[in-house]
Amino acid sequence: MSKSLSSPASLLSAPAQNAAAGLALRCANLHRHLGQGEGRVHVLRGVSFEARRGHVTAIVGPSGCGKSTLLYLLGLLDQPDDGSIWISDQLMSNSSDLDRTAARCEHIGFVFQFHFLMLEFSALENVMMPMRKLGRLGEAKMVARARSLLADVGLGEKTHRLATQLSGGEQQRVAVARALANQPSIILADEPTGNLDVTNSNLVFDLLTKLAKENGQAVVLVTHNPEIAQRCDEIKPMRDGQFC
Ligand SMILES: Nc1ncnc2c1ncn2[C@@H]1O[C@H](COP(=O)(O)OP(=O)(O)OP(=O)(O)O)[C@@H](O)[C@H]1O
Ligand SMILES: [Mg+2]
Repeated sequence: MSKSLSSPASLLSAPAQNAAAGLALRCANLHRHLGQGEGRVHVLRGVSFEARRGHVTAIVGPSGCGKSTLLYLLGLLDQPDDGSIWISDQLMSNSSDLDRTAARCEHIGFVFQFHFLMLEFSALENVMMPMRKLGRLGEAKMVARARSLLADVGLGEKTHRLATQLSGGEQQRVAVARALANQPSIILADEPTGNLDVTNSNLVFDLLTKLAKENGQAVVLVTHNPEIAQRCDEIKPMRDGQFC
């Protein structure tokens, strides 16, 4: 599968090569039910969406409307009950777990709403984790890249701190750095500035925007912050499992 996706000659230049190529991701008519029996809920009710390279899109909407559920589907972390998802032009919604994992590893950087860092590891090791999984860089290059990403999110002095020794906002910034580790063509970020003060919120948002503009990465972020949403290229309001 992943062979027919844009296979990068060099890991670090992949998004730049594809910058002019248009859509990084799209989905059509996604449906997702969650829960069992009487508690089964029709969470996503026919969602169609496109993420453009070089574009920052904000998904906004009230708590419980399905934003995280949608991001999980787009990030190939969960599967729809109905509908299709394409990464570049490759249909992914029906592919095997192995192919979806490979595509996620290579093309998608995901910032989780609750960050999910490996708490017993340092900030540096957490950021190196996706690079180890992809297996394209040697140890020294992985360390240098992880250091540089942590510096980008304002944590250059705390690279060796264990995740448990970082504040919530610091952990969130490590999670942002980790999502950028493999220079993914698609960055999906679930409230990446949710725990941050204004300065760090701007730092993270400016970094994501810069990556979109300079490298042609597609950025899709969920936010409850109207100021952040206003600064995106596009705002997609969501309600009751659909875009309005
Ligand atoms: N395992 C589950 N079983 C049943 N319902 C679920 C399950 N997980 C989530 N839901 C429901 O799905 C809906 C959408 O949840 P989701 O986490 O996508 O919301 P959200 O828009 O991201 O909200 P928030 O802004 O609070 O993060 C909610 O109503 C939630 O209660
Ligand atoms: Mg959510």
